[in-house]
Parts: sequence; C-alpha cells; structure tokens
Amino acid sequence: MSDTLKKAVETALSGIKAPDGTQSVVQAGLISAVVVDGGKVGIILDFGKAAPDGAEALRAEIETAARAVDGIDEANVIMTATRHAQAAPQGPAMQQAKAPPKPTEIPGVKHIIAVASGKGGVGKSTTSINLAMALKDQGLKVGVLDADIFGPSLPMLLGMDDRPEIKNKIIQPLMAHGLKVMSIGFLIDVDQPVVWRGPRVMGATQQLLRDVAWGPLDVLVVDMPPGTGDVQLTMVQQAPLSGAVIVSTPQDLALIDARKGLAMFQKVDVPIMGIIENMSTFTCPHCGEESHIFGHGGAADTAAELGCDFLGGIPLHMSVREHADGGTPIVASEPDNPISKAYRTIASQISEKLGVS
Ligand SMILES: Nc1ncnc2c1ncn2[C@@H]1O[C@H](COP(=O)(O)OP(=O)(O)OP(=O)(O)O)[C@@H](O)[C@H]1O
Ligand SMILES: [Mg+2]
Repeated sequence: MSDTLKKAVETALSGIKAPDGTQSVVQAGLISAVVVDGGKVGIILDFGKAAPDGAEALRAEIETAARAVDGIDEANVIMTATRHAQAAPQGPAMQQAKAPPKPTEIPGVKHIIAVASGKGGVGKSTTSINLAMALKDQGLKVGVLDADIFGPSLPMLLGMDDRPEIKNKIIQPLMAHGLKVMSIGFLIDVDQPVVWRGPRVMGATQQLLRDVAWGPLDVLVVDMPPGTGDVQLTMVQQAPLSGAVIVSTPQDLALIDARKGLAMFQKVDVPIMGIIENMSTFTCPHCGEESHIFGHGGAADTAAELGCDFLGGIPLHMSVREHADGGTPIVASEPDNPISKAYRTIASQISEKLGVS
C-alpha cells in the first residue's frame, strides 16, 4: 500500500520542472527521499549545493502536488543543500583530501553520540532517552536530539508538546527531566512555521544541530531515524560524532540490519562504541520468570564477530513501554528497577569510553 502511494507521489513529482527548466525534479535527481507513512508523506528536496533562487516556491509546489495525490493528506517537504567546501585550502598538493571534511564542532558540546539501528522499531528512541537520563544521573550535562525528521518520537516519549523559544534566531532547547531536548516535532505544524520554512534555513538536521543553543553539554545523544539510506548517511556526515551505539533486537534479521548500521558508520570513520541488545529477554509479568523469546545472546555473538563491544542487554518488559508511553522514561520513574540499572551500566561504559566519567 505505501509502495503504491510512494509511486503515485513520485509520478506526481515527475510533472514538476527543476529550476533549470529542462528536466523534472525527479529526473534532475533533486528528490533524494520519499517516505510514506500512512497518509503522510515526507519528501527531501536536496539541491546538492546552495539552494537556487525560487527554492521556496519549488518546495511549496512539490508539497501541493504531493498533497493532491489520492490517499495523501499531509505532505512535508524538507529542503536540504549541502554546503560544499569552498576552494581547497591553499598550500601543498597533499591537501587534495579524499574523505569529506570532518564537520565542525558544535560550540559548547563535548561529545555527540548517535544511537542507531539498521531496522525500525527496535527501541532506538526508548534507548536514547533512557541512556541520556542515566548519563545525566552520573552528573553529566546531557541533551537529546531527535533526528527523526519524518517520525519524531521525542514529544511523545516525554509527554510534551511545548514550543521552544527562539532568541536571536537561535532555538532554545526544551528541558525535560533535567535534559536539554529538541525534536522537529516541537517545531513543525505550528504557529511558528517560519522558523522551519524560512528560505534561509537549509537542511533539517543541520538546523537541529546548529541552530539550537545546545551548549554547555558533556554529551548530546542523537536518536537516529531507522535505516541506513541516504538520509541517515547525510546525518552521520553532518554531525561531528564521537561514536555510535547500535541497538538491535536478537532476531537474526535485525542483526543482519545491525551489520548494515555498523557499516554505515565505518564508511565515514565514526567509531562504534558497541551494540546494545534490546528486548533481549522476556520477563513474565505474572511469574517473573525470564525467557529468551528471540533467541538470547545474538547481539553478543555478533558484536564479538564484528570486533566491537557488547554493551549489554535490556529485557523486553511492559514497564519499559508503559513508562515510555506515559512520558516518563523508566530510568527517571523507577530508578531501582533492574532495567534502569541495566541502562545505567550501559551508560557508564559509554561515559568511560568518552572519557567524561
Ligand atoms: N525493552 C523494551 N521492552 C518493552 N517495550 C519496549 C522496549 N524497548 C522499546 N519498547 C517499545 O517498542 C516500541 C518501539 O520502540 P522505539 O520507538 O524506541 O523504537 P525505535 O527504534 O526508535 O523506532 P523507530 O525506528 O520507529 O524510530 C515502543 O512502543 C517502545 O515503548
Ligand atoms: Mg525512534
């Protein structure tokens, strides 16, 4: 169903001319992603370089065309434009670097870590917020950036729908349980659309990273969108990451996906801090007995095989979900629960690796 809708949206977009006037936006390669979720579609309009004049009008035209497709009732077009490095730095010929330049630091932020997975729904967002809480409990200054621009989950996980304040064009992060937090979910579809849509603003993730007053922070935890496609790769390249944490469920398939997740970070030389096995055991709510519903230990074996660390497992337990749905992560609401302790054990390995413990 969503594939058919995606095709219909792409067909609609192929009727829209690119700024050069000869090809359609699709033929010109300006549409880097079309993501359909129910009746909603997210589209990335990527100019690959500085956005041309009329970019904002083109964005609006694409949005209108997508919304006119049967079965689509909401369309959200995000414009991105890669800022290519200016002329190569003067000097010896050696400076013809092959790797893309390392993104510049975010002022006042010591470390940025990505929480990622190859596959959706494995618990990245839940893990991100609980790890962030656990890091904060160590006395660190911590922030969480929800990098899922098409399916933001932080507002739900924190039970918040507040709007951030904007001071001198800088977005002030919201505070939740002592964490600085930001998500596109706090910004879009609101009374301040200008912040998001202004033609000045290019690149959703860039904005969440660089137009938010994050500092001072010891650690910024980035909750990545699922998958390992171009959208994710761009994000990985845009953030000056200290490392990545891969979340996986023990099912084999998820582990194959975990490998893809690893490969994505390795491609851009981001160190893998380790793998977390989420939903690793099932604790029966009635008898308290543990069972290994998905075949326990897969992540530990894979981590060993891939030469990265296994950071620990988090059991599948209703209380994790209930607290997440209730807007208060389990680490905050039930600090003595063994699951909260498991998150804290993982968090201390992370802070140790970062050298901030
Ligand atoms: N250990 C756990 N025990 C029980 N439920 C869990 C656990 N971890 C996550 N969940 C639940 O599983 C669902 C998916 O989790 P979550 O949204 O964190 O995954 P995600 O990987 O971020 O998903 P997406 O790929 O869509 O971003 C949520 O309802 C969450 O509450
Ligand atoms: Mg998520």
